[in-house]
Amino acid sequence: MILDMLYKAVLKPIFFRFDPEYVHDQMTAKGVFFSNHALTRSLIGAAYDYHGQDIGKTVDGLRYRTPFLLSAGFDYNGQLPLILPHIGLGGEEVGSVTARACEGNPKPRLTRLPKSKSIIVNKGLRNEGVDKIIERLKDYKAKKQPSVSALWASGEPKVVSGTDFIVGISIARTNDDKSVPIEAGIQDYLYSFKRLNEESVGDYYTLNISCPNAFGAEAFNQPQLLRRLLTAIKTVPSKKPLYVKMPINIPWPQFEALLKIIDEFGLNGVVIGNLNKDYSSLEFREEAPEVFKGGLSGKPCTHLSTDLIYKTRDAFGKRFTIIGVGGVLSPETAAEKFEAGADLVQLITGMIYEGPGLIKKLCRAFASRGRISMS
Ligand SMILES: Cc1cc2nc3c(=O)[nH]c(=O)nc-3n(C[C@H](O)[C@H](O)[C@H](O)COP(=O)(O)O)c2cc1C
Repeated sequence: MILDMLYKAVLKPIFFRFDPEYVHDQMTAKGVFFSNHALTRSLIGAAYDYHGQDIGKTVDGLRYRTPFLLSAGFDYNGQLPLILPHIGLGGEEVGSVTARACEGNPKPRLTRLPKSKSIIVNKGLRNEGVDKIIERLKDYKAKKQPSVSALWASGEPKVVSGTDFIVGISIARTNDDKSVPIEAGIQDYLYSFKRLNEESVGDYYTLNISCPNAFGAEAFNQPQLLRRLLTAIKTVPSKKPLYVKMPINIPWPQFEALLKIIDEFGLNGVVIGNLNKDYSSLEFREEAPEVFKGGLSGKPCTHLSTDLIYKTRDAFGKRFTIIGVGGVLSPETAAEKFEAGADLVQLITGMIYEGPGLIKKLCRAFASRGRISMS
C-alpha cells in the first residue's frame, strides 16, 4: 500500500529524529484539526478506514464497528474520538484519567527502542484530570455522528465510516504523594468513577491497577487491596461495563487470585495487559539507556500478554470479556490474541512503528480469516 510505504520510507524517519513526546503532541494537534472538518475526516477515512464486509462485534452490549481499539495512553486527554473511527478503529480507551491533573514524570517520558519494536514508557499518568476530560467528552457526544443502527432504521447503508465508535475510559489514581495512602488512593479512583457515572460520560470503564510508573506503585495488584478498591467502587450505581487492566509481570497464582476477586464482584472482564517491567526481555539491550525507569511496550509484551489471555480463558471459560493488548504489530500477532481467547484487541506501539495503515490491514485480515476462527 502506497500510504504504508510513504509512512515507513518518509514520515517515520523524520518523526524518529524528534523526541517521541513532541511528535505525539504534534500528531494529536493534527488529529484535532482533522477532526474538526467533515472534509478532512472523509479524506482520512478514504485513505485509512476499513470499508469491507461487516466485522463489527457486540461485546457487553456495546457495538464496535471493528474489533480493534486504541489502547489507553495515546489519547490520554480524550481529544481524538471524532477522527479515530476514520482509521479503522472500533473504539479507544481514553486516559488513564485521574481525579486531579497530573504533570507526568520528569522527562524523558518516552524512549523509542526501534530494533526491539518497543517504547520505554515513563509517562507518569500525564493528563488534565477527570473533570476537564468529562467536559471535553460531553462536547464530543454532542458532535458525534448517528449510530449505525439509527442510520439502518432510516434506510441508509449499514457500514458507515465513523459510526459505532466506542469510547472507554481508563481510570487510575492521581500520580502524587497525596494519593499514596491506600484509603486516599481508593477515594481518588472513586471520585473519577463517580463523576464519570454521574455525567454518563464514557461507554465503558477500566480500572487501571497496573501503571508501572507512578507514585504508590501498583498497590492494588495485591488481592486484599483490590478487594477493598472494588468494595468501594461497587457502592457507585453504574450501568456501564467495567473492566480491570491487569499487570503482566506477576506470577499466575497472584494473577488468578485477582481474577477470582474480579469475578466475585461481578465485573465484566479484564484488559490483559499493561506494560512489561522486565527489561531483561529486551532483544536488543544495547539500544536502551543504562538505567531506565518505566515499562516496555510493544514486542516485549507480545507473548506475556497472549499467554495470560490463554490461561485466563482456560481457567475461567467464558466468564470474562477479555480485551487483549500488548505487542500487536501485525495481523499474525492480532490473530494470536483472538486465538488465545481475546474478544477485542487494543494497540498503540504497532501503530507507531507500522503506521496508521496497520489498522486497516488488521481489519482485512480479520475479515478474511473469518470471524469464526478469530473470535
Ligand atoms: C505512550 C504510552 C502511554 C501509556 N499510558 C497508559 C496509561 O495511561 N494507562 C494504561 O492503562 N496503559 C497505558 N499504556 C499501556 C498501553 O495501554 C498498553 O497496555 C501497552 O503499551 C501494550 O500495548 P502495545 O504494545 O500495543 O503498545 C501506555 C502505553 C504507551 C506506549
